[in-house]
Amino acid sequence: MPWVVRDAVDEINRAVGRRWQGLDRLLPPRAELPEGCAAPLVTTGANGRPAGLASCRHEHVPAGTLNQTWGTAHRFSLIARLREADTSAALDDLLGQWRDHLAGLPGTGVDDTAAMITWPARDVSGVNTLLRHGLQPITVIAVRPARPGPAGPGPGPTGDESLVIREAGPADLDTVTEFEMGVIRYDALFGAAILRPATEELVRAETQAALAARPAWAWLAERDGEPVGLVHVQPPGQSRWITGMTRAGVTVYLQTMFVRPGERGRGVGAALVRHAHAVLAARGVDTTLLHYAQMNPLSGPFWNRMGYRPLWTGWEVRPAASLR
Ligand SMILES: CC(C)(COP(=O)(O)OP(=O)(O)OC[C@H]1O[C@@H](n2cnc3c(N)ncnc32)[C@H](O)[C@@H]1OP(=O)(O)O)[C@@H](O)C(=O)NCCC(=O)NCCS
Repeated sequence: MPWVVRDAVDEINRAVGRRWQGLDRLLPPRAELPEGCAAPLVTTGANGRPAGLASCRHEHVPAGTLNQTWGTAHRFSLIARLREADTSAALDDLLGQWRDHLAGLPGTGVDDTAAMITWPARDVSGVNTLLRHGLQPITVIAVRPARPGPAGPGPGPTGDESLVIREAGPADLDTVTEFEMGVIRYDALFGAAILRPATEELVRAETQAALAARPAWAWLAERDGEPVGLVHVQPPGQSRWITGMTRAGVTVYLQTMFVRPGERGRGVGAALVRHAHAVLAARGVDTTLLHYAQMNPLSGPFWNRMGYRPLWTGWEVRPAASLR
């Protein structure tokens, strides 16, 4: 990378970090621009200096990995760093350059490809530009900071005599796999998951490994001895793939939340999440992150009631070459 661009990267990263902190204290304090497939795309401001930079990254997700259930097989992501509070003109220019770049790449016009951008939820200045280029908001990364002060009484009775929350263990493999698949099937209705031939087998293998870990990070709700709901959290060490999306501190990723259809709206989900939050607080967790599908009519309101709010929005257009 020529030194002029490298200097601009450092300077813009610092400016964007400051701007993000003004928008949302739970965004990361520094905005890194990762290496892309080529030199960064540059947009120039009215003063002739770079007003924004962007890297394009190509990811080819192998068949037979669970990651292919969470999106298309071929992903082209733009990581944009824009200096000004009003991002619209600079973003428009970068998206136009990116469209031309994608149009020149082989294979971007076929099924199972996506052009993607993860945008700070509170940076509302970019929303109309993203829409105009054909991108759609598909997923939300939501965040919940642990409450300051004492962690509270810890997990306890649910207040509903017939409902018991307990740790999930190796003997619960069938039930937990069924509930994990329940969320994936539901999220697939909203474009946030894509069911693959290998999905169930891969979920089962991952579940088996997760349930063997102690202490437990997954809890089942049982009504009259029958499992009716699941909450499953990734421990801090396994959450590192996403912890850079928020402030420093101990961060975990809540990967699954599911209540059987006939049991919804009766407080099972809230009891599970209250229990998990109490355990997480006792284990020193500062921040919890999770994904929900933007169009899922059940998850957004529920997570908001549980203390979560949007941090990032995942925008996509499929196939990648249909970016406008
Ligand atoms: C989301 C889900 C786990 C909620 O579980 P639940 O047991 O139905 O939720 P609860 O009955 O405990 O509701 C807890 C609170 O959220 C509110 N809530 C739950 N679903 C809601 C909805 N769709 N709209 C508005 N409020 C809702 C309840 O009113 C309640 O609020 P209150 O504390 O003021 O009474 C459940 O609907 C589900 O399994 N959905 C399918 C899978 C899914 O979407 N998982 C989340 C993926 S990120």
